[in-house]
Formats: sequence, structure tokens, C-alpha cells
Amino acid sequence: MVLTNCLKSVNIVIMPNIHKVTALGIVFVLSVCLTEQKGTFSEGATLTDYYAEPYRPQFHFSPSESWMNDPNGMVYYEGEYHLFYQYYPDSTVWGPMHWGHAISTDLVHWEHQPIALYPDSLGWIFSGSAVVDWENTSGLGTKNNPPLVAIYTYHSMEVEKTGRDDFQTQGIAYSLDKGRSWTKYAGNPVLRNPGMRDFRDPKVMWYEREQKWIMTLAVKDHISFYSSPDLIHWGFESDFGDGLGAHGGVWECPDLFPLEEGSSGEQKWVLLVSINSGGPNGGSGTQYFIGDFDGKAFHLSEKFAFAGPGEVVWLDYGTDNYAGVTWSDIPSDDNRRIFIGWMSNWQYAQVVPTHPWRSAMTLPRELRLVQRHGVFELQSLPVEEVNQLYGKTASLSAIPVGDSIVFTDSLGFKATQVMLDLDLDLKGAGSFEIHFFNSMGERVSLNYSEQDRLYYFDREDSGITDFKDGFGKVHQAPYMLENEKVNIKIWKDISAMEVFVDGGRLVLTEVFFPQIPFDQVSITAPGKVMIDRLDVSEVKSIWRKNE
Ligand code: FRU
Repeated sequence: MVLTNCLKSVNIVIMPNIHKVTALGIVFVLSVCLTEQKGTFSEGATLTDYYAEPYRPQFHFSPSESWMNDPNGMVYYEGEYHLFYQYYPDSTVWGPMHWGHAISTDLVHWEHQPIALYPDSLGWIFSGSAVVDWENTSGLGTKNNPPLVAIYTYHSMEVEKTGRDDFQTQGIAYSLDKGRSWTKYAGNPVLRNPGMRDFRDPKVMWYEREQKWIMTLAVKDHISFYSSPDLIHWGFESDFGDGLGAHGGVWECPDLFPLEEGSSGEQKWVLLVSINSGGPNGGSGTQYFIGDFDGKAFHLSEKFAFAGPGEVVWLDYGTDNYAGVTWSDIPSDDNRRIFIGWMSNWQYAQVVPTHPWRSAMTLPRELRLVQRHGVFELQSLPVEEVNQLYGKTASLSAIPVGDSIVFTDSLGFKATQVMLDLDLDLKGAGSFEIHFFNSMGERVSLNYSEQDRLYYFDREDSGITDFKDGFGKVHQAPYMLENEKVNIKIWKDISAMEVFVDGGRLVLTEVFFPQIPFDQVSITAPGKVMIDRLDVSEVKSIWRKNE
């Protein structure tokens, strides 16, 4: 990093059209250090119009064209992170499902790969997972060259049309060339359907203690666990979830994994369950449970903040993080639990105003297990690898907010692709607002009210919202402050933003479609509130050179 410029003054502008002016904020001259950082680029990304369409996310994964939904089959093998995804190459709406494929060596820059799995006579290829079969339990490879095995749902339209309920089964495919080509197992399906209309999205993991594979499967309104010695022969173990958690829609895309609590090293098991509809702010959402898994059944922990029927703990309170699961086979010397979600919502995913592709993924996030006041919870933050994308940065400290601080050109860069890391001291004032806006008066806002104990995310005036009734609405997330200090991290891309409050205790992921990008940011709060520290960084494109 080369320090090119330091000590620039910050323009503080009151924007009466944004918020009522009570007192002029105090103008402080602060050290704004503009720094340059050498960019890192995807191979071959030389064209300036590549990935430059309106609304194209610049540091989130999206397919170059066509429809994408859930992330699938994420597995790490020999230095490569594989990301497969639900993909329909012939349209920008959902259709016959394939598995699209991309590979990254750093979780940040992605190389598109040919389609990995095509529909066949058994059906379309719905969501699922992939593992490294290190011991070659399946016999599909060798111990020297262990197979990558994908476990996915077949959805047979033909069977569904006959009126039968058993149209979803589980199949497997394997690769012996580091995921470059895939062969479907000749004996598919490996798990037949017992007569349930919703019987899908297998997430498979190796259960070390009993040397067997565990499949976590979404079955209508609950989870079923199956086990296998070889990924081919599966037997039923148990069910979980009847009457527990959210049941406003069908359960989908589960994930089960162990996680150690940071300070005590105590191990718990986490069960992620996506649900559509019935999410925290409508439509799709992901809930989680914390407990123990004994190789057969999952039991809720007494130390999980979940008191009973109707109570739900959500992974993300925004509307745009769905069907997320975690990478398999992250090496033990890394040991992170890395998650990625589909950054959309079935309420409007197929009508958002993007072309020639639809949908993007969240940033990869590290999930951590934390115990607060004797209760286990999951916290999430972007993986540290994304920090390599910082471009110019500005750092401020000890600024009374006064009324409204608008960081316009004073940052030295536009806030179109930006990471904002903010420490606030509320000093009893009880509320603050962060706005991203453009010169057309369009904006999104993140607001906190201590009185309401709620965060609000407002996309009412966020630009194009009329593609779906209810898209432009205010979302809510319950939140109790620990004290008067607040940390907010925001990664804002062209058409999406991820908000992480207090180390990821609360997460909000939201998409939006302003007519021109939001390129300005402001912070508004009653007189006493202090910005203890604010770091703002430009975030470089992962797709294009020289930006
Ligand atoms: C979730 C989901 C999965 C299914 C896939 C089909 O978004 O409905 O349950 O496997 O999408 O594309």
C-alpha cells in the first residue's frame, strides 16, 4: 500500500431534503488518508464493458448471463474453492435446473467453468452438496485420487405431471479431475422417495466418530437425517423440527455442522434451515438451531436462545440471503466455517430489473459460535480475504455527528462500491441513521431506534421498486444494545448491501435498484452522538481491470 495523500479536510454538508436540521454539526478537519492499493483481477477480464451492465454487482459473484438461484456443492479441494449453483442457461427466469460452476483460489475472484451437471432422464438437477471422499468409500475413485462426489436432488417433471408425490429423489455424480468434469453414478437414484412432495436439498458431511456419512435433507416441514457408509446406500436415522422454529413455508436447503465456541472451545452443532415463505421480513429467509448431534439425532441445546414453538432465530434479517450453506472440506489448519447465500428472495427474484443475468451471491462469510449471557448464538462476518479489494481509503476519528454528516466528495472517491466500518458512541441519544443516496433523491437507509429496540432498513425510495408490490418497504430487525457503543460494517455494492452489526450479531442483506448508483453516504443522529472511528474504503471490482 502506498500512502499518496493525507490530511484532507472533510466537507460537512447539511442536507435539509434528507433530514431536518436542528443544529449544525461541528466541522472537524480530520485526517483523510487516501491510499492506493494494487488491484487484483480475474484472468482474462480485460474488456471495460465486461460485467458493467446497470446493477451488475462488482464484488459479488453473479453468472455472466441467465438465471441463478441457490449456491450448491461448495467444496474445497487442492487449493480451489468450488461454487456450484442452480442455473438455467436458456433464460433469466427459473426453469430446467442445471448446476453452474465457478472456481476461486481466494474466495474473492471467480473463474467461470462449464456447466457441471445437466438434467437427464431422472429429472432436473436441484440443490445439493459436494464432498471429498478421501477414503474412497464410494469406490468411485481411488485412495490416491479421491473422488469429489456431488449429492443432489433429481426433480422429475414427468413423474410430477402424473400426479404422483414421489418426484424428488437423490442422485450422485463424481469427478476425478478436480471438479472439471462430472460423471453421473449409473445406479441413480441413491435415495428413493418415500412419498413426500418436498424431499430435497441433501447436505452431506463425514461423521468422523462413527466413520459414516450423514445426509441432512429438507422434507416438507422438517429435517430428516440419513446415514451411509459409502455415499451410495442410505438408511434413515431420525427427524427434527416438527413444531419447532418457523413454519410459514416449506423447509429447504439445510446444513448441519459442528462449531467450536471461540473462548471455551466447547463444541456445538448448528443446523441451518431455509424457509420459503415466512422469512423475517417476508418471503424467503434462513433460520438456525444450535444443539448436539449424536450421529443419529439432533437435540436442541438448553443454551440456545430459543424458547419454544413460534420462536425463531434468523441468520439474517434482510430479505436477500436465502438457501445459504457452508463449504465442505475446509482444511483443519484453517478450520473456518464459510457460508455463502443466494442474494435474492423468491418473492421477486424472477422480476428484478437486471439483464442479461438474474441474481448474485452474498460475500462468503465466516460463521462463528459465540456465547453471550450464557446463550449460544451464531455471528457472521465477511471472510478476511475480501479485504484485499480495498482501494482508496479514508479514516476519520472523534467526530460529533451533530445533525447530519454527508461525506460527499471529501472522501476522494465515490461511495458506489464501498466498505464502511463505523464505531459510534450513542451517549444516550438512542438513535442514528445511515443513508446511501444519489443526486436523484433516491436512497436506502439503515436506522436504529433504541426506544423501539429495532433496526430498520428502508428501501421505499430506493429507485425502481414497482416490479413487485411490497419490494419498496421498510424492514425491521429486533436488537438490544449491549452498551452505548455500536459497530457497523457495511459492504455496499452497486445493487446490494450487507450490514453487519456488532461483529455480526445482527446481519441484514438487501438488494436495491436505484436509477443511478448511490454514490454518497451520510450519517445522521441527535446532537450528542460521536463517531469514535470511521474507516471508509473503496471496494475494487472483482471482474474488471483498472478500477
Ligand atoms: C430453494 C429451492 C430448493 C430447490 C431449488 C430448485 O431456493 O427451491 O429447495 O432444490 O431451489 O431450484
